[in-house]
Amino acid sequence: MIDFALIFLSSFLLVGVVIFIHGFPAMIAVGPIPTSKKGIDRAVALADIQSGEKFYELGCSEGRVLVRTVEKYDCFGVGYELVFPYFLLAKLRAKLSKKSKNIDVRCQNFFKADFSEADVIFCFLTPGLMQKLGKYFQEQKLKKDVRIISYAFKIRNLEPEKVIKHSKGNWNIYLYRL
Ligand SMILES: C[S@@+](CC[C@H](N)C(=O)[O-])C[C@H]1O[C@@H](n2cnc3c(N)ncnc32)[C@H](O)[C@@H]1O
Repeated sequence: MIDFALIFLSSFLLVGVVIFIHGFPAMIAVGPIPTSKKGIDRAVALADIQSGEKFYELGCSEGRVLVRTVEKYDCFGVGYELVFPYFLLAKLRAKLSKKSKNIDVRCQNFFKADFSEADVIFCFLTPGLMQKLGKYFQEQKLKKDVRIISYAFKIRNLEPEKVIKHSKGNWNIYLYRL
């Protein structure tokens, strides 16, 4: 019993240390702020997702937005996450979801990904990454009418179709249609 408790505790500590070590640089780079449930719901509602559509999340962290969206809209979800411990947590969250078959989490740099199947793309990243992504989107072969939601930061040189104020924070949520 004590052995089991020790193994459990040390595994727990080990996972915590790994997440901290791997996650810390990314947190500095993109900010640790997780989206609130209300924030997620308001942001995702902008895209008016239909059942069966494909929702891509770039930088899905531990998969909260991805899994919540797939469950709520009965759509398909693809999440990209570079930080391995976050990817594992997202994978676990997806596995435990009642819609697990509709969710695909990839440990991959989204700048090397193909978005040609996406109907909706969701991002909560830094202003710098959003700029880079703006260019990347324009180089990609995207679906006509793909909706892009950017939580908090605008994409320079692109005109948003809709902008709403975040209910709590002093920032906006942007909807683009390319
Ligand atoms: C601010 S968090 C957003 C988390 C989640 N989307 C949310 O709204 O709660 C940004 C995430 O993007 C990931 N990320 C940053 N650059 C990436 C890249 N090039 N490819 C894949 N993931 C990336 C980071 O590791 C981090 O987990």
